Amino acid sequence: MPAIFVTRRIPERGLNMLRVAFGPENVRVAPQDGVIERKDLVEGVRGVDALLCILTDSIDAEVMDAAGPQLKIIANYAVGYNNIDVAAATQRRIPVTNTPGVLTETTADLAWALLMAAARRLGESERLLRAGRWAGWGPMLFLGVDIHGKTLGIYGMGRIGQAMARRAKGFDMRVIYHDQTPIAQELEQQLNAAYVDKAALLAESDFLSIHCPLTPETRHAFGEAEFKAMKPTAVIINSARGPIIDEKALAHALNNNVIFAAGLDVFEDEPAIHPDLLECQNAVLIPHLGSASQETRGRMAEIAAANILARLNGQTPPACVNPEILQ
Ligand code: GLV
Ligand code: GLV
Repeated sequence: MPAIFVTRRIPERGLNMLRVAFGPENVRVAPQDGVIERKDLVEGVRGVDALLCILTDSIDAEVMDAAGPQLKIIANYAVGYNNIDVAAATQRRIPVTNTPGVLTETTADLAWALLMAAARRLGESERLLRAGRWAGWGPMLFLGVDIHGKTLGIYGMGRIGQAMARRAKGFDMRVIYHDQTPIAQELEQQLNAAYVDKAALLAESDFLSIHCPLTPETRHAFGEAEFKAMKPTAVIINSARGPIIDEKALAHALNNNVIFAAGLDVFEDEPAIHPDLLECQNAVLIPHLGSASQETRGRMAEIAAANILARLNGQTPPACVNPEILQ
């Protein structure tokens, strides 16, 4: 029977699929409640056929070689897979899989919540109320910016970006987007979204929401120059990956009213938060919760398990990010 190593407890639905298929004794879940330590990771993968990992695990060549040549799949419990050295996996002919699709709407829901919270200053106003400092209704108290009728700019028009565009319809928003390549015209029409270059996206967006993967090209795609090119009333939302934004530059922009507000679910150096950012009252900061609904985390566990089941049964995993090696 093949051996499977899971780097941290995930919902039982996925673990049970693996236990039923391969026997409970062959599915080892790392016991710690927290990010696995490097030495435990390198030790835990030794001799296994499948690795089920999470986005806080750095899966590089050293881990793959520690596992050994029988390693047949690296199944990430996430849609983003920047934590895995895919080139090193491809070189070793190991398929890398992710969990796309199931978390699209859940992540867009959260990005939308951040958009609304940042626009209407829910973070800072709730902090004031809880601190017992609310002196009653005020004509100038916590004035935010309107959402309805404004322009939503989407950076990265994949599944989640498109789900944001659909949400914008209910708020009568104009939708513009930027990506490496435009989406199909028919889809643009359906979503009522117009392709623009990055300069126009920066200049015209009232709300700019990031939905691209983290790659060398998108690292620090938003820094000082970009914030300066945005409207002073603009709100930026990041539910993708932290390093896409230069956090220090964002904190500076927020503190100096270069832009109006930010809603962030992801950070450059999680779980550390840039101290300047913590000082920004106009930033809504939440701890990487994009896919964190009970329903979706369960489905992600099923897909991660389904990827492993398919691979170990000699079939094509449903969500492989380097499918060229399976040909
Ligand atoms: C979460 O951040 C994911 O990539 O699934
Ligand atoms: C993620 O699944 C995306 O394509 O946006």
